[in-house]
Amino acid sequence: MQHFDRSKKLLIANWKANKTVTESQEWLDTFRAQQLNTAVQYVLCAPYHLLSTVQPTRNDSYVLGVQDLSQFGAGAYTGEIAGANLVGLGVQYALVGHSERRKYLHETSALVALKVEAAVQAELTPVVCMDREQIEEQADQIPQHLWNKLLIAYEPVHAISTFGGQEDPIETTLEVIAHIHEVFGNEVPVLYGGSVNSENSLVYLQQETIAGALVGGASLDAEKFSQL
Ligand code: PGA
Repeated sequence: MQHFDRSKKLLIANWKANKTVTESQEWLDTFRAQQLNTAVQYVLCAPYHLLSTVQPTRNDSYVLGVQDLSQFGAGAYTGEIAGANLVGLGVQYALVGHSERRKYLHETSALVALKVEAAVQAELTPVVCMDREQIEEQADQIPQHLWNKLLIAYEPVHAISTFGGQEDPIETTLEVIAHIHEVFGNEVPVLYGGSVNSENSLVYLQQETIAGALVGGASLDAEKFSQL
């Protein structure tokens, strides 16, 4: 199922392993009080333990995503969260292959491809995160018939705030994104991620070939996130 609306930019908040129930409620109270940009589609990738707490109401202008997904289905897989477990929680997107998981949990592009398949099976839109080095190998691993079902988030590892936060010049970003389009086809929406904040977000979001942004640090504050 494709949830992405091509007429809008997509802004994904990736909270990572942050926030308690109370903190997530405070975030939502603040977010709901903001004047939001109607040309933006907001996605909140909350950690699993908060998915029930941050359920959008009919008046809300965000949808939910998860930060990872098991490659397995429901069953005897201790500690895993399968797509089938998420039914009823209104989750639409699943980040897979985030560089923190590749680094700390040694996730390979082959595993990420299995997670893409699991996401599609669960009718979630996979957002496949990759750095420049992973473009070809990730394309080799993900079956081609699934390419029209995914979004890609280009995230140069050195640009991620907790890994150094060194932004690429926009020319470099656009070159790499053009390469991703060459490999996966022009129809695949590509987001940018890595230290996106209210000062630099327009540089990325005004580019025609950038479909949106994946935001970590700057998404933890609802006011800052809504100003991107
Ligand atoms: P950052 O994180 O915005 O804090 O750099 C982005 C990400 O890791 O997805």
